[in-house]
Amino acid sequence: MAANEAARGPRDVDVSTASAARVYDYLLGGAHNFAADRALAEQVIQVLPTARQVAIANRSFLRRAVRYLVGQGITQFLDLGSGSPTYGNVHEIAQEADPACRVLYVDHDEVAVAHSELLLAGNPAATMLGADLTKPSTVLDAPITREFLDFSRPIGLLMIAVLVYVPDSLDPAGIVATYRDALPAGSYFALSHLTADHEPVAMAAVVEAMKNSRDPLYFRSYDETLPLFAGFDLVAPGLVDVPDWRPDPGHQDASSGEGYAGIGRKS
Ligand SMILES: C[S@@+](CC[C@H](N)C(=O)[O-])C[C@H]1O[C@@H](n2cnc3c(N)ncnc32)[C@H](O)[C@@H]1O
Repeated sequence: MAANEAARGPRDVDVSTASAARVYDYLLGGAHNFAADRALAEQVIQVLPTARQVAIANRSFLRRAVRYLVGQGITQFLDLGSGSPTYGNVHEIAQEADPACRVLYVDHDEVAVAHSELLLAGNPAATMLGADLTKPSTVLDAPITREFLDFSRPIGLLMIAVLVYVPDSLDPAGIVATYRDALPAGSYFALSHLTADHEPVAMAAVVEAMKNSRDPLYFRSYDETLPLFAGFDLVAPGLVDVPDWRPDPGHQDASSGEGYAGIGRKS
């Protein structure tokens, strides 16, 4: 990108410190990132050579999850930690399956928010809220949320590769429970979460690399991830390695995904 690329970021955004949204965007081959993000992403690739495949496997779970939810009759989505617009956004996947679908995106990264707003301008069925998902009232009570989503009908709650940025001290299970309690019966919760269970040494180095970004990482084991589904009934195949969640016929992602994925239903 050009030397004065900072000028293209939203005003008052510090792009000299890497952020999760922009590192992830770079790993996926996107253009919504800056020098600090690319340098950190390259550091991550050094210690975890499959980092790009991990990001791609996560993104393909997102696609399968959205299609599954539309298949269950879900037409409204609350996507927390949605990231920068990239190939195969939730509203595109959902609206391809059912044009009536509506999507409210939420992220705290100013660059991701600005790019999403640009992409979604004029789209009445998808919109963006800049907010911190760890403060559920700032999302649930925001006027746009109440206008955009109908809380008397089932909602698909997505937390895809985002709770890994939430430390235990902020009580991730309690945060999920607050969103869950706001949803009507018949709603679904889709989650993916990075783990160090398979590659502890490499993943410890990834944590170290991300320590000085705006979004340090908190990996969780299988036993720490499962309780995040409290109050939801896990649908088959349960909580599994990311690529093993209902893979598309004839396609298996290249890496283990270094994470777990699952979908639960609120009864
Ligand atoms: C790895 S990306 C995942 C993007 C997308 N969900 C996906 O799976 O393709 C994680 C995103 O979560 C966002 N994020 C992290 N902590 C957040 C918070 N407390 N509130 C809102 N967004 C957050 C980051 O800015 C980033 O865009």
